[in-house]
Amino acid sequence: MTELGPVAWPPALIRTERLVLRESQAWDRTAFIELFASPQVRTYLGGPRPRNELEREVPELPGRRPGLFVIDLNGAMIGAVTLDRRDAERPGHVRPDAGEAELGYVLLPEAWGCGYAVEACAAALGWVADALPGEPVVLCTQTANERSMRLAAKLGFTEVERFEEWGAEQWFGVWSPLMVSG
Ligand SMILES: CC(C)(COP(=O)(O)OP(=O)(O)OC[C@H]1O[C@@H](n2cnc3c(N)ncnc32)[C@H](O)[C@@H]1OP(=O)(O)O)[C@@H](O)C(=O)NCCC(=O)NCCS
Repeated sequence: MTELGPVAWPPALIRTERLVLRESQAWDRTAFIELFASPQVRTYLGGPRPRNELEREVPELPGRRPGLFVIDLNGAMIGAVTLDRRDAERPGHVRPDAGEAELGYVLLPEAWGCGYAVEACAAALGWVADALPGEPVVLCTQTANERSMRLAAKLGFTEVERFEEWGAEQWFGVWSPLMVSG
C-alpha cells in the first residue's frame, strides 16, 4: 500500500450521526496497539502481533498519514478507516495503470454490531467523492470474513473478481460515486 497522494490533508473533521472521523492523536496509541494485538480483529489480517513488540515499536503518534481516519466515538478511538493506493503488483485492479484508492477498516471488537463501521466508511467514501472526484474505490477482503463481506455489500461495493492470495479466497470489489449518484 502506498499513500493516497495529492489530497488536502488533514481534512476538516467529518461528523456523522454518532461518530467523528479525524486525524490520529498521541492519545490514540493504546487503541492502535489493541487493534494490532487483538486476535478477533486480526483473524483475517495475518493474526495478532505480540503486545510487548507493539509497545516497543508503535510510534508515539501512530497512524498520522494522509488517508487514515480515526473513528472517534464520544472522544475515544474505536477503530480506523483507511484509504491507500493499491499496490500494482497485487492481483485485483479496475484501472489499467493500477494504484486505485482502496478502502480498509478495523474496529475494536467491543464496537462491532452497532453499525459504526458502515457509518464511518460511508462518510469516508463521501469524502473520497469530493477529494478525488470520479475515482473508483476498491476493496479486498477474505470471503471467510463474513462481517466484512456484509459491510462491503451494505456500502454498495460490487464484485469484480475473486482470487486466491495468502492461502485464502479473496473478494475484490469496486465502488464508484457514479454508481451512487446514478
Ligand atoms: C469488518 C468490521 C469492521 C465490521 O464491523 P461491524 O460492526 O460488523 O459492521 P457494521 O457497522 O456494518 O455493523 C453491522 C452490525 O451492526 C448492527 N447494527 C446495530 N445498530 C445499527 C445501526 N444503528 N445501524 C446499522 N447497523 C446496526 C447490524 O444489525 C449488524 O449486526 P450483525 O452484523 O451482528 O448482524 C469488523 O468486524 C472488524 O473490525 N473486523 C476486523 C478487521 C477486519 O477484518 N477488517 C476487514 C479487512 S479487509
